[in-house]
Amino acid sequence: MRSSVLIIGLAIAAPFIGTGCSKQISYSADVQPLLNEYCIKCHDGKGEGSEKSGLIMTSYANIMSGTKFGPVVVAGNSESSTLYRIISGKVSPKIDMPPTGPDSVAVGRGHALKQGNITTIQKWIDQGALNN
Ligand code: HEC
Repeated sequence: MRSSVLIIGLAIAAPFIGTGCSKQISYSADVQPLLNEYCIKCHDGKGEGSEKSGLIMTSYANIMSGTKFGPVVVAGNSESSTLYRIISGKVSPKIDMPPTGPDSVAVGRGHALKQGNITTIQKWIDQGALNN
């Protein structure tokens, strides 16, 4: 009896194993909507984020051209990409993006990304940062 319960459990779980890692992220369907919701407010070309850093996030081309200091996305390597490092708190608590804390560099405040949103951006970069 116990083993049949286990087998049924595995049969239900099996189709989901692995799909979490292999799902292809789409820039237009998954990434741009997140940027629109959490970043554009300050990074639309007029906001304080784009004024200070030069980073505009209204399109794939803008994202890939980066800040006035250089690219923020290294295709295939999220750990070397400022875009990922900054949203996952790996740069410095002062430059967390979106800025939420009172000590942050921005005057305005944003809404913190959910962990799932951070993972979506990380996967998109690791899958080659495609314009898909
Ligand atoms: C409330 C305004 C605001 C929001 C919302 C915001 N930013 Fe920023 N961002 C700034 C400001 C201001 C700077 C310039 C910081 C500096 O270098 O002085 C900046 C700079 C940056 C930089 C460049 C950092 C560097 O050191 O080169 C990145 C990358 C960035 N933001 C990513 C994001 C992302 C991704 C989001 C959304 C998830 C976001 N920002 C949302 C205000 C904002």
